Formats: sequence, C-alpha cells, structure tokens
Amino acid sequence: MHFQWYPGHMTKARRMMQENIKLIDLVIELVDSRIPLSSKNPDIDQLAANKSRMIILNKADMADPSVTALWEKYYQDKGFFVARVNSRQGTGMKEVRKLIDKACQEKKDRDRKRGILNRPVRAMVAGIPNVGKSTFINSFAGKAVTKTGNKPGVTKGKQWIKINKGVELLDTPGLLWPRFEDQTVGLRLAFIGSIKDELLNNSEIALELIRFLASSYPGTLSGRYGIEETADPPEVLEGIAGARGCLMKGNELDTGKAATLILDEFRSMRLGCISLEKPEDNLH
Ligand code: G4P
Repeated sequence: MHFQWYPGHMTKARRMMQENIKLIDLVIELVDSRIPLSSKNPDIDQLAANKSRMIILNKADMADPSVTALWEKYYQDKGFFVARVNSRQGTGMKEVRKLIDKACQEKKDRDRKRGILNRPVRAMVAGIPNVGKSTFINSFAGKAVTKTGNKPGVTKGKQWIKINKGVELLDTPGLLWPRFEDQTVGLRLAFIGSIKDELLNNSEIALELIRFLASSYPGTLSGRYGIEETADPPEVLEGIAGARGCLMKGNELDTGKAATLILDEFRSMRLGCISLEKPEDNLH
C-alpha cells in the first residue's frame, strides 16, 4: 500500500489525534521493526505529553532480531513500555497484555491517590500508515471487535473494545504522519514500500538498497543472485538483471525490471530478515 501526504491530510490527521488523545490514558504506538525510528512520528511526544507510552515493534518477523533487541533497549531506556510483535501471526500479544496491565497500574495508582476509583483506563493505537495498526487491533482484540459505525440507527461515536475489567481500547487507530521531509527517512520508507516518493524512481531506490545491503548485510546479494556484490551499485544492478534474465527487446539488460525485482524480493523477505537502521545511526 502506498501513501502520499499533502498538508491537508496532515492537518486532518493531527486534528483527529488531538481530539482523540484527550480521551485516553495510554498511547500504544506502532512502529515498523525494520525502521523503528523512521516509522515513528515526530510530533507524538508533544501530543501525548503526560500519557503512559508504549512502543510496539511490529513486523518483528521481518527484521533482524539482534537489531530489534537493540531497539527494544533503546526505547526502554527512554521510558517506554516496549514489546516486539508479529501482528499477522499474533505472536507477542501476551507480552503486550502484560505491559498494558503494568502501564495501567501506574495510572490506577495515581487515580487512587487523587481519590478516583474504578475508572477504566483507556488506550489508543497510533502509527503512520501501513505499520500494521488494523492488523494489530484485530489480532490483539480478536473477536471482541464490534463494528457498529455504519449501521443505520446506531449512534455514531467512539467505539471502545473491552480488553479486560479495567482497560478499554479505542477501536479506530490514530493516524500519524511520517517525517517525510527528511530524505533518509523517505528513502527507508520507500525501501519497505510505504511511500511513493515522486523524486525517486525504482531504479534509484534499488541502487540505494544495493549500496546498503552490500555494506550492512554482506553476502546477501551475492548469495541470492550469484553475482559480485562489491562492484558499483549500477553494475550490481546489471549483474542482477543478467542473472535473472531481465532483458529488453534486442537482448539489452533491463535494469528497471531488475530494480523492481530486487525491491519486491526485499519486501517479501526473500533476502532474509533485514533491519534498515540501528539506534547508533543517530537519525535525529
Ligand atoms: P495500517 O492499519 O497501519 O495501515 O496497516 P495494516 O494493518 O493494514 O497492515 C499493512 C500491511 O502490513 C498488511 O499487509 C498486513 O498484513 C501487514 N502486517 C501487519 N502486521 C504485520 C506483521 O507483524 N508482520 C508482517 N509480516 N506483516 C504485517 P498487506 O500485504 O497490505 O495486506 P494483506 O495481504 O496482509 O491483507
């Protein structure tokens, strides 16, 4: 799924977030485990000031587990409750449940001190498009999800999913916008197929991916395509075109086709579990 953002989209998303965030105590922020910083929204810290905060490293099945462990620590050190999850398979949900209870306990203790008893803790899932918010909510809340929004006669309003006795989850996720003004972020979102950057074409994205893989995951390209991966990226791309028989009329190498091929293979994990950024990259 591709998305493009215009100022209008962003203003609307921000307004919705501001409205919904008033109702909740806990923000469950989803990020993509392959790019846990580039897929994180920059303004949420300000929007969610004074709320309990949780980071879900989603699509953990697609990332390099040793790098995901670094991110887990990175966000824990920043004071977040952190869990790694595969929402498609439902793995990690038990841990999420435990962490929500922990996060809520803090809120309940605070309430009790102020004389407020038995008020349910309310949570909301938020994240940029395509990080897996809907998949997560379905997987986490499962059959409890009730959709009543479009039925005639049903009052339009917020739907809350009861997670347990004391916790309710807003059934519609908060939509956040990416840091698309940052080129590196844009490129990484393009690698995972979450942004269509009109300034970059597939070949340019593929060349950048080749450059990254050759230096950070040596052996991946040569292993998959049987080519010499240390050459200049354009030559590597030609090598892949040759190895995979990507040809134009007249038997000329079709590097455009090879670019699409390598991006598809990366996104469908045929190149393995790969993380595109590490905490020490210092992307701030
Ligand atoms: P969103 O609400 O944040 O926009 O994201 P959504 O749930 O629609 O998920 C976007 C894509 O990411 C979906 O794939 C979904 O299956 C996939 N996804 C979500 N969580 C995970 C995960 O933990 N691991 C993996 N591997 N994939 C995940 P899709 O191809 O767009 O749709 P579909 O073919 O699965 O229906």
